[in-house]
Amino acid sequence: MDVLCDETFRQITGLMYATVGLSFPDSKKPLVTSRLAARIQRIGLDGFDQYFELISSHDDGGEFQMAVDLLTTNETYFFREPAHFDLLERELGRTKPKHVAVWSAASSFGDEAYSTAMLLADMQLHGRIGTEWSVLGTDISDRVLRSASEAIFPAERLSRVSPERLKRYCLRGEAESEGLVQIQDKLRDRVRFGQLNLCQEIDGIGPFDVIFLRNVLIYFDPPTKQAVVDRVLTRLRPGGLFFIGTAEGRVPSSHSLQPLGPGAFRKVAR
Ligand SMILES: C[S@@+](CC[C@H](N)C(=O)[O-])C[C@H]1O[C@@H](n2cnc3c(N)ncnc32)[C@H](O)[C@@H]1O
Repeated sequence: MDVLCDETFRQITGLMYATVGLSFPDSKKPLVTSRLAARIQRIGLDGFDQYFELISSHDDGGEFQMAVDLLTTNETYFFREPAHFDLLERELGRTKPKHVAVWSAASSFGDEAYSTAMLLADMQLHGRIGTEWSVLGTDISDRVLRSASEAIFPAERLSRVSPERLKRYCLRGEAESEGLVQIQDKLRDRVRFGQLNLCQEIDGIGPFDVIFLRNVLIYFDPPTKQAVVDRVLTRLRPGGLFFIGTAEGRVPSSHSLQPLGPGAFRKVAR
């Protein structure tokens, strides 16, 4: 196969930037080359030029989506960055809301959404929040969303889930013998998933009381980061809680945010 020439690199990364906001500086050329080369060979194309033609055509058979999956990571696990869940529990325990609507934006396989659902179900059980709560998970990748809806997970991704919660919210059965864990319907019924591109207008969802936008901003350049954060925050109620990954640095936003801890903020009413 040919090497990835500068022009095709710019075409492929330009398409990624314009469509889903992913930003790949020149230093990422080796990464783009290695992630796409194996795929190009597997589907029997001659090289990167042909691959660019395919993913930029209307009739790509889902290949653009595959390229996005290959160039990003879907890494996630239950109760990742546990301080955020502790803070959420403290804040909700203080205000005891009747309704809680949560959005896990960039949910990947759904671990964050189901972790939140476990926490909210426990709080409801102990009368610390009302009965009307729900979680929406969205992502650009329909592959991860299909898996999220099935709610079957490798057991090691639930290593931070307490034994009590595993018993209360997970099913034992055939899946278990294969090292898999299935989430029970009583929790699945509270969690919905849908496809959403954070780089396009967001209509028809929210407002939310809590938004997780964690470990996705790393893919965006500063102007895209600010546009995404601003767009997402229009869906958060004043006083609502906003979480980003603790390693994602400063949040660029024209909304007023009160810092509550690393990667945790409250939206201030304007
Ligand atoms: C590393 S995962 C984060 C999962 C979870 N939020 C967490 O912190 O564990 C990043 C996710 O962002 C998604 N993503 C990347 N660009 C996106 C975009 N423009 N719109 C929506 N999701 C996007 C990817 O598909 C991937 O599943």
